[in-house]
Amino acid sequence: MPLRLDYSNMMAPSIDGGITDAEWREIGTRFSAAHAGVMALHAAGTLGFLDLPDDRVLHRTTEAYVAGVRARSGGDALTDVVVLGIGGSALGPIALRTALRPPQWNLLDAEARSGHPRLHVLDNVDPANISALLARLDLRGSLFVVTSKSGGTAETMAQYLVVRARLTAALGEAAARERLVFVTDPEKGALRAIARAEGVAALEIPANVGGRFSVLSPVGVLPAALMGIDTAQLLAGAAAMRTRCASDDLTSNIAGAFAALQHLADTKHGRRIQVLMPYSDALRDMAAWFVQLWAESLGKHRIPGDAGVGPTPLAALGATDQHSQVQLFMEGPADKSVTFLGVEQVSGDVEIPSLHPDIAELAYLGGHRLGELLDIERRATAGALARRGRPNMTLTMAAVDPFRVGQLLMLFELATAYAGQLYGVNAFDQPGVELGKQFTYAMLGRADADEARREWNLLPTSDPSRVI
Ligand code: PA5
Repeated sequence: MPLRLDYSNMMAPSIDGGITDAEWREIGTRFSAAHAGVMALHAAGTLGFLDLPDDRVLHRTTEAYVAGVRARSGGDALTDVVVLGIGGSALGPIALRTALRPPQWNLLDAEARSGHPRLHVLDNVDPANISALLARLDLRGSLFVVTSKSGGTAETMAQYLVVRARLTAALGEAAARERLVFVTDPEKGALRAIARAEGVAALEIPANVGGRFSVLSPVGVLPAALMGIDTAQLLAGAAAMRTRCASDDLTSNIAGAFAALQHLADTKHGRRIQVLMPYSDALRDMAAWFVQLWAESLGKHRIPGDAGVGPTPLAALGATDQHSQVQLFMEGPADKSVTFLGVEQVSGDVEIPSLHPDIAELAYLGGHRLGELLDIERRATAGALARRGRPNMTLTMAAVDPFRVGQLLMLFELATAYAGQLYGVNAFDQPGVELGKQFTYAMLGRADADEARREWNLLPTSDPSRVI
């Protein structure tokens, strides 16, 4: 079964205040222009993420690097891979590990991992976490993948400096270099310069691929391949989704339909908060990846100084968050739409034993399966939201495997590009994070941050009468 989007529960009249047929027809016309806009950007060479599924050279280079690492470390001696990165450099690898490796991957022994390494992702600079990981790693069996498109992000560079010093102290300069690989821009940035000067291995993120659109480049593909994921299938799935979205017709372009529905829900019906709620532990981190993609791409000024546009994405997990956030979705402010992610075939389903036939609260469960219960709860929650006039839609995938995950990633990336066109913003930059970065540089004494230092020093200081 191909990936399917059921948006019946987004539409009026079944949803009071839902999207009307007239609005849906009107956005169909606007979507043609949005689709043309994305195609024009691609033709101009700026949307490199669309080309990643076919970049055989990049994929072969990554595979060759992985084969070399395995050969050098004698087959199964590589026990741990650590990604150093943040934002788009970290969320993709995490999502791929959770989706495409067995649950609790890092807790399995080497045999259960078929000799593939554990994957750790240092996506922050919290010293407690970094120290704890470095303290228990065998550095000789570890590979550190330093991922940064710009090659200069403060958090990632700080992680790198800490790791490099540890490696050098423990193993010496030459062996330390061998335990490092950089994933970065082909030309620019500090990592590329170090790679050139010192001969550290480095793989490329194509210049026209931005951080949050880079999961199908070595950013995601290298850690995935090291863990033994079938990356050819991942890329094939992404290519298939791109083909499926080739038309400007919303009845067939599933990424376009997703973007158009969310845009209408936000701009015409006040559904500013857009929840992605997988009913699958394997897809839980896919929701976190999507949140960054949607938020950083669409939350923008259209023109400098305007009020700003963009939906607020929110990640939830079914059935867990039925006992946390769903009360808010049902009865809180009518400012949300929910997209459920369902999976048809769950692997290793478990039958619920019939143990207490006389106790009504337990008896009805016996003989059903856990996967069945999870799926029924998804349908029940969607139905309950619809009954209360709360719009929702459901994306269903047949199974969580590399091909379908590739499809899902491309669907969301394309949807984000379309949504950028519909909102009238550039989905591929992030100017809003720059000022905070500059202030950080200023406080840390970076040499080229004089202007930021001046601006920082002009800010009002904390008012003691307002501190409790
Ligand atoms: O999506 C983005 O561009 C950002 O979230 C980046 O991934 C993040 O800021 C890290 O940047 P870099 O990869 O340059 O280190």
